[in-house]
Amino acid sequence: MKTIVKKLEKKIFISLDIPGDKSISHRSVIFGSIIPGETTIRNFLQGDDCKHTLEAFEAMGVEASLKDKVLVIKGKSLDSMQKPKKDIYLGNSGTSIRLLSGLFSGLPFTTTLTGDASLQKRPMKRVIDPLAKMGAKIESLEGGLAPLKINPNEEKNHLKAIQYDSPIASAQVKSCLILAALSIDGETTITEPHLSRDHTERMLKYLGAQIITEGTKIKINGKEAYKQLKPKEIFVPGDISSAAFFMVAAAILENSEITVKNIGLNPSRTGILEAFDLMNVNYEIINPREVNNEPIADIKVKTSNIKAAEIGGELIPKLIDEIPIIAILAAQAQGTTVIKDAEELRVKESNRITSTLNMLSKLGVDAKETPDGMIIKGRSRKPFEVSYLTEIDSHGDHRLAMSSAIAALYSTQPIEIQKTEFVQTSFPNFFDLLYKLYHSDEN
Ligand code: S3P
Repeated sequence: MKTIVKKLEKKIFISLDIPGDKSISHRSVIFGSIIPGETTIRNFLQGDDCKHTLEAFEAMGVEASLKDKVLVIKGKSLDSMQKPKKDIYLGNSGTSIRLLSGLFSGLPFTTTLTGDASLQKRPMKRVIDPLAKMGAKIESLEGGLAPLKINPNEEKNHLKAIQYDSPIASAQVKSCLILAALSIDGETTITEPHLSRDHTERMLKYLGAQIITEGTKIKINGKEAYKQLKPKEIFVPGDISSAAFFMVAAAILENSEITVKNIGLNPSRTGILEAFDLMNVNYEIINPREVNNEPIADIKVKTSNIKAAEIGGELIPKLIDEIPIIAILAAQAQGTTVIKDAEELRVKESNRITSTLNMLSKLGVDAKETPDGMIIKGRSRKPFEVSYLTEIDSHGDHRLAMSSAIAALYSTQPIEIQKTEFVQTSFPNFFDLLYKLYHSDEN
């Protein structure tokens, strides 16, 4: 699907409800499914990725009903799950395949996890290797690619506790091992080089399980922790990674003020706000509060006098999904922005270093690709100069499609964005909210 987005020349003054957080929605489905009893999840993200996680459990006999963003799950214990009748298809979702490969390693039957062309290219050795150390039997295609066939071991209770020092700061790897640990007697210890998002740990604590977190180290006596879990209502905060598109729109467009409501402000996810501080973005946090062990607030962003910055190191895992839209912000800054230590971007839904650079070049931005990031020369808030219906290929990457659409709001001519159907992955009503901006001063 192609979508044409044209320049927005009006004053913007609007408040937006941003859909639920993708990471928290996945985790709420997983815990809701494996805790016997009924779990109600409010503001559930109805994006394709989270629906695939839910379908995986439905294939094993879990019942669920979804109405008006409220998902009710009737959970079952892990040992009463049924063998799925066919392979489990997880679409574009790296989070689903990595988290479920851990959880399903403890099941007494074979499951096969697969996905779309993009997912079949993404590295799975990062989970296969530590799971193998735990004793899991996983078959993959050469190079550790999906489909992953997860076989049970002949012995019961076959997985064993390990101590794993992850070489990468990845919440997907960490959560995969925590979920595998739920079938293991004894203490599993996991460390990571920098803190990645900690929603799994927070949700376990909220649902009553004991898990010890000390900086970047986690200890969990998995089987014990699993027995402690009790069903509880979950409210999914708005996704800061989705809010980021509209926050950057407010910063780069003239005469604008956008408030995004009920946004998750977990410190392992707020790297974009730290980048805003470095880049002089005019924003305000309103009404901070807490829901199910996750901090949330509203965020108001106004037209800003954007400055360039250097973004790297520990900040990267805290804003990893926001880099394509931060690149648009940097392209409107005063000065040259350097993004480094972000080689992980090469193995996301697309090679996000190359696809972001391709987007910037189509927008006429002076930018350079580096092995671990990019260098972007800012235009000091001047519309992107493009020719009529310049085409930008999203490479089937939802975040590239949305970043290109925000850039188009501040471009001299309409832009045609390709493969926009992929916004369904994480932000199904993205274009509805974008079109609201054109009428925001009529309220
Ligand atoms: C996610 C973790 C991140 C992130 C992804 C969602 C999660 O990936 O990029 O969109 O929900 O755990 P990594 O953990 O691989 O960095």
